[in-house]
Amino acid sequence: MLPDKQKQAAAEAALRYIEDDAWLGIGTGSTVEYFIEALAEKRKNSIRGAVSSSERTTALLKKYHIGIEELNNIDTLPVYIDGADEVTEHGAMIKGGGGALTREKVIGQAARKFVCVVDQSKLVPVLGEFPLPVEVIPMARSFVARELTRLGGQPSWRAGFITDNGNAILDVRGLNLINPVETEGAINQIPGVVTAGIFAQRGADVILVGGGEDVKILTPGR
Ligand code: 5RP
Repeated sequence: MLPDKQKQAAAEAALRYIEDDAWLGIGTGSTVEYFIEALAEKRKNSIRGAVSSSERTTALLKKYHIGIEELNNIDTLPVYIDGADEVTEHGAMIKGGGGALTREKVIGQAARKFVCVVDQSKLVPVLGEFPLPVEVIPMARSFVARELTRLGGQPSWRAGFITDNGNAILDVRGLNLINPVETEGAINQIPGVVTAGIFAQRGADVILVGGGEDVKILTPGR
């Protein structure tokens, strides 16, 4: 199966995790776009509405006339569905390739269940081959880059890219992510960091991996 077909298969499998008459958190990226298309076609009237993680996702939800609600106006979010740049079978992820990591982390953390949808190339034994995105406030960019270098990384500025929150992204290669929970905490401690793109302290509860004949279901959250 081609990677795009794998993404589509994983995204469609996520439909069964939607709860009727409830709010649904929706991530960002090409896999999620397959999910939104499937949602629009098959389940859009069964949800109360969507909580969007980015302007990009909001635009697509609007195109399909799917109602959107702000997280601030919601007290219970049963499910969040999102892709990842890398994920381990334990549910730790690297996210932020599309630059939406901060809102993704907030909504993912607010949700009771995080469902991660990926093609099989994203499933890795250890995180770290994909450069780690770190969102930083613009005036702290160089300082944070030096601190990330002290942690063993090689940061590079995603020049010309501004996040939906008005911030910059550093993409960091070479970090040892054998203990992602600890490294997520260490990066989050650096003043000026808004969000580290490691999602390990709150990882995925369910991972749907498209590939081969079937979609593989991993449940590290159990
Ligand atoms: C965006 C993300 C995406 O989930 C990640 O980049 C995966 O994208 P895609 O589904 O296009 O491969 O974290 O910030």
